[in-house]
Amino acid sequence: MSASAFAPGKIILMGEHAVVHGHKALAMAVDRGMTVRLEERPGPTQLDSPSIHDPRMDAALRCVLPETGVGVHIHSTLPIGRGMGSSAALAVALARSALKREGRPPTHDAVNAHAFAVERVFHGAPSGIDHTVSMHGGAMLYQRNEAGPTFEPIELPPLPIVVIDSGTAGNTATMVAKVANNIVGNAAHLAAMGDLLAQSLPALQRGDDTAIGEAWRENHRLLQAIGVSTPTIDTIVNAAIEAGATGAKLAGAGGGGIVIALAPDPQAVCSAATQRGWNAFPVAQAPSLAQPVQP
Ligand code: PMV
Repeated sequence: MSASAFAPGKIILMGEHAVVHGHKALAMAVDRGMTVRLEERPGPTQLDSPSIHDPRMDAALRCVLPETGVGVHIHSTLPIGRGMGSSAALAVALARSALKREGRPPTHDAVNAHAFAVERVFHGAPSGIDHTVSMHGGAMLYQRNEAGPTFEPIELPPLPIVVIDSGTAGNTATMVAKVANNIVGNAAHLAAMGDLLAQSLPALQRGDDTAIGEAWRENHRLLQAIGVSTPTIDTIVNAAIEAGATGAKLAGAGGGGIVIALAPDPQAVCSAATQRGWNAFPVAQAPSLAQPVQP
């Protein structure tokens, strides 16, 4: 017998870093993610996918599976460690497949509890945004305050987004600390990011490519100002705009990771990026569970 489940990754459309300092951010689940397949077989429960090596994996599997009897296969269509929520997608897919295997319904609370336990193995004290967006699909505004994080689903139309991978991973904890260490110099930029997201929401919700592109350029300038971009990321942003994107920005913690470009002609931007040696691909919004895909 086997049980399998898929869960999507995410991109941060606007507001990364600002969200650490109390402002809102907007994240969107994407049509790439992790598929987990569990197979009953004798021997210790472990990963049977030889291409994935992560010393934390055994502890993660222990959160949701018995010590023996299960072979775990993982297939990813996300770049790993680039801020696209690969560990959260793994956590949610693992939670859903483990519940299926036990014949338990994948209720919100059961998936959430399992997935958050797995996320903590990978990230210590995560905000929870990644696995929340992965569980719900669609797009969400999130904000952290003293009482804890709040999540607000937002309806977005299809947006022509291209992801361009810089080829290196940024370290989220290091970048967050870098911004915090100069909070006096950065506070106004972070507040401006929060204001920019609030002003840009109507444009995002009506799918206004020109206005969204302009907002992303400004968001990227603010991310540069707080010191989380890199020369390679800036080169990618400029190359995407030269290839016809209305705007582009780094997405996630920075210091490496990915750029997102708003590209009315996604193929043109993908080809320009690929010619320069960067992996690039269009992404669409993963459907929200509130609007299930028709069979
Ligand atoms: O690159 P990611 O997906 O880990 O994004 C980090 C987003 C930050 O705002 C920089 C940090 C956070 O915890 O919100």
